[in-house]
Amino acid sequence: MEIRLEKFSKSFGPVNAIEDMDLAIGDGEMIALLGPSGCGKTTTLYAICGLHRVSAGRIWFGDREVTHLVPQERKVGVVFQSFALYPHLSTFENIAFPLQIRKESNADIERKVKDIANTLHIEELLGRRPGQLSGGQQQRVALARALVRRPDVLLMDEPLANLDAGLRLEMRSEIRRIQRESGCTSILVTHDQVEAMSMCDRIALMHKGKIQQIGTPDEMYHQPKNKFIAGFIGNPPISFADGVVEDGRFVAQGLSFELPDQIKGASVSAGQKIAIGVRPEYLQPDFATAIEGEVTFIESQGREILYDLKLGGGQIFRSIQSSEQTCKLGDQIHWGIDVNSVFFFDEQGVRL
Ligand SMILES: Nc1ncnc2c1ncn2[C@@H]1O[C@H](COP(=O)(O)OP(=O)(O)OP(=O)(O)O)[C@@H](O)[C@H]1O
Ligand SMILES: [Mg+2]
Repeated sequence: MEIRLEKFSKSFGPVNAIEDMDLAIGDGEMIALLGPSGCGKTTTLYAICGLHRVSAGRIWFGDREVTHLVPQERKVGVVFQSFALYPHLSTFENIAFPLQIRKESNADIERKVKDIANTLHIEELLGRRPGQLSGGQQQRVALARALVRRPDVLLMDEPLANLDAGLRLEMRSEIRRIQRESGCTSILVTHDQVEAMSMCDRIALMHKGKIQQIGTPDEMYHQPKNKFIAGFIGNPPISFADGVVEDGRFVAQGLSFELPDQIKGASVSAGQKIAIGVRPEYLQPDFATAIEGEVTFIESQGREILYDLKLGGGQIFRSIQSSEQTCKLGDQIHWGIDVNSVFFFDEQGVRL
C-alpha cells in the first residue's frame, strides 16, 4: 500500500509543527522519519494514522484518500512512543484486542496471538498485565498488538527506545524481518540514525518541521545536501572547519590545502567563506593531504580506535582507525585527509 502526503501541514495554535510536507512511500517500503527532538516526527505519524486532523494538505493510501477518515477506517497498526497498552488487560487480551473488535473467532484469535507472541519472544508473558512487565517487554507487546491483524500500514514511534542495547539489536533485525515478510508499508520514527540506517530502505531526515532530504542510507551518508544532514548522519560524527578560498586553496588557521577540481569548477570565488566536513574514516595516517595537530583524545572501541586531532586553529578533527595504536596522547603528528572525500559547504551550509 503506497502512502502519499501532499502539502501536509499541521499547526497547534500559533505553532507551525509541519509546513507543506510532500512524502511518498512505496508499497512494501520501510522508511525512517529521522530527526532531533521536536522536529515533527510524531506529529507526522499521528496525521498518517488519523489521530491528528491535518491543518492543510491531503493523505493517500494507494488510490484511497484517507485525510478525513478516523483511525479505525485506515487499517494501520501503530506502536506508540508510550506503549499505550490497556492496563487492566493481560498481555494476551491486549494483543487480542484488535482481533476481537473485528469479531474474529476465538480459535483464530488464540492462534494469531500465540503466533505473534512467539515471534516476539513474549509467550511466557501472556498472562501478565502491563504493570507487571518491564518497559522493553511492554514495547514488544505493543508491537505484537500492532502486527497481529496484519495491517496495510505499520507505524512505529521510537519502538526500540526503551530496550537495552542487546535487545535493541535483536529487535532491529526482528522488526525488519517481520516487515519484509508481511510486505507491510512501514514508517519508523526515530532520532537514532544508526537505527534508521540499519533498518530502513530510505530515510527522510527532518529538521524544524521540514524534510531536509530523502534518500537511501547510502545516499544520505555519501551525498548529503547540506551541513545539517552531514552532521546528523554518521557515527562517530563528521568534523567541520570554517575557512576561505584563496588561490584555489581552502585556507583556515592551521589548515590549508588545494581544492579539488570539481570544487574549483563549482564557481567558488576568491575570498568566499566556505566550510569543510571530513568524516573520521577520511583522516588517516597515510592519506595524501597532510594536516598537523596534537592528539588530544584516544578511545579504543575494541576493533577500532577513535582519535581527536586538535589543529593549529583549535579545530578538532576526528579519526577512526582499525590498525594498532601508533601514537599517544599529546603527540604532535601529521596525518592526511582524502580531499576527494571531503564535503564542501557554502556559507548557508548548502553542499557545493
Ligand atoms: N498537542 C500539541 N500542542 C502544541 N504543540 C505541540 C503538540 N504536539 C506537538 N507539538 C509541538 O510540535 C512540534 C513537533 O512535535 P513532535 O511531537 O512531532 O516532535 P518529535 O519529532 O516527535 O520529537 P521527539 O523526538 O521529542 O518525540 C514541537 O515543537 C512540539 O512542541
Ligand atoms: Mg515524538
